Amino acid sequence: MCGIVGYVGPREATDVVVKGLERLEYRGYDSAGIAIIEHGEFQMRRSVGKLINLRRRLHEEPTTGNQGIGHTRWATHGAVTEANAHPHHDESERIVVIQNGIVENYLELKQRLIAEGASFHSQTDTEVIAHLLGRYTSESNDFIAAFGRVMGELRGGNAVVAMDRTQPDLILAARIGNAGAVVIGEGEGESFVASDLPAIVDYTQQMAFLEDGELAILRPSGVEYRTLSGAPVTKTLTTVAWDPVSAAKGGYKHFMQKEIAEQPRTTTDTLRGRLDIEAGRVDLEGLTMTDDELRGVERIYAVACGTAWHACLVTKYFIETLARVPVEVDYGSEFRYRAPVMTKGTLVLALTQSGETVDTLAAMAEAREHGVKSVAIVNAIGSQATRVADGGTIYIHSGPEIAVASTKVFTGMLMAGYLFGLRLAQARGTLTPAEISAHAQALIEIPGKINAILKDISVYDQLADLYHHATDMLYLGRWANAPIALEGALKMKEISYIHAEGYPAGEMKHGPIALIDERMPVICIATQDHVYEKMLSNIEQVIARGGRVIALVNPDDTLVRSKAHHVIEVPHTTPLLSAVLNVIPLQLFSYAMAVRRGADVDQPRNLAKSVTVE
Ligand code: F6R
Repeated sequence: MCGIVGYVGPREATDVVVKGLERLEYRGYDSAGIAIIEHGEFQMRRSVGKLINLRRRLHEEPTTGNQGIGHTRWATHGAVTEANAHPHHDESERIVVIQNGIVENYLELKQRLIAEGASFHSQTDTEVIAHLLGRYTSESNDFIAAFGRVMGELRGGNAVVAMDRTQPDLILAARIGNAGAVVIGEGEGESFVASDLPAIVDYTQQMAFLEDGELAILRPSGVEYRTLSGAPVTKTLTTVAWDPVSAAKGGYKHFMQKEIAEQPRTTTDTLRGRLDIEAGRVDLEGLTMTDDELRGVERIYAVACGTAWHACLVTKYFIETLARVPVEVDYGSEFRYRAPVMTKGTLVLALTQSGETVDTLAAMAEAREHGVKSVAIVNAIGSQATRVADGGTIYIHSGPEIAVASTKVFTGMLMAGYLFGLRLAQARGTLTPAEISAHAQALIEIPGKINAILKDISVYDQLADLYHHATDMLYLGRWANAPIALEGALKMKEISYIHAEGYPAGEMKHGPIALIDERMPVICIATQDHVYEKMLSNIEQVIARGGRVIALVNPDDTLVRSKAHHVIEVPHTTPLLSAVLNVIPLQLFSYAMAVRRGADVDQPRNLAKSVTVE
């Protein structure tokens, strides 16, 4: 959600900034803009829609210069218009600013500025930052101090980058709260700033991450770090070994298709080095909680948003079954507002791909305020959640996920959640080493089984041919597969724009059954476990009302096969781990439907990859 790129050094800044923004396209945006300093003047270009439009603008009116900033905007305050696209400038056009996040007190600041005679050109909250910065800079003639002062007056989570055209070779960046990452790249004779690593990793692997309340002063000769009030800060640079090529489509039509196909590898990567099958042990290198602390856990709140929230729901079944610890699942956006009961034995488990989702970070902050530890299951290396998690981080190791709709990270989260369940069980003695070994064996067989599912995908195109005109769909599952029904429905909504609902199958008769008729495709997860027969009854109920049943079954199934209109085969595994396998056909089905409907698969409308606003 919103992308930021800034560059100062010997290269053509326009190239670096626009290419960087393209690398951040996966985050979702609706307009874009850049400002380049050319002979002491700003050259601003902005446009609505995709970056190709900005590229066209730049082709007609090129910019040149060695210092620039750029932004992709996901609208919060004000419509998607060129005037609302970033960068924004102050009245004297001395300062330009780009921002990620929301200035919560912007109205108050705007009214104050209007009373002082300012006039605004946009409806955005960001423009107040430009005006304030312009005023404070001309008052003090100290751009850096003025920047710190403005940041100190903002309320909310904000990542801000600014330039003063009278100060060549200087870009300022700051972070307050949890507006998303601010990554600083230090190259040889050049400096970079971005809201995510892929934007700048082509140029330098030496990175620093700004914390809440920190400011970076970027010059070609290097970067200086301070607090907002000007005290020096020493930062340790991290060497990021992220191969930019792996972020490319690699022969697939869409990133989502590629990411679905990568799951045999990515699920293997989540397990790598963590299981000792012979000894029946699990070792999670990033988890800093001791066995004693793990034994002291009495209750877990699993918090997340969206797809990651569905992963929490499945993880609840894993942890409760394996380690016998009660797990409550919360939306990040609800957790802190409901005054959750947090006692000594409480642990917060946060699941987040980006590690930057503001609602999830807020839940972690709430835990910390109550002296409760949090553990994070995260994909993005070095992201904010990994720095807040005082109980440690379990990295998923899925590599960059570019498609907005999450697929490989979802299965990675499930694998990591299962590992955490086993680790808890090991510390608490709820499973013997021999039992852990059997679970580990089942886990390592998962990637091969995913591979088998991916082998024949023609069925999804056939189903899409039949059902792409559907306006509504229902997904049903039970037990650990009930959340998979929710996830299947979410994937369908997100990328094909078909209204889809997921339900625990037993709930169907309490309401959704009223919707079923011959126009309603009903996807039923009916692989074999202790609730299989209940699922079979639910399928009968759907068929009795004319619904069209697409069922997920094991290869040796006969009963469901004899009733359903279509079946998709899924290999056998343990009942718990069937959740990991069953989601794969649902991802493939959504993908086929979206392609059949001509939708923008990788960047669905209105959605953003990393949601850094509340
Ligand atoms: C849906 C999707 C979103 C994210 C959610 C949380 O496919 O990707 O629902 O799961 O925005 O994001 P993270 O995991 O980055 O906290």
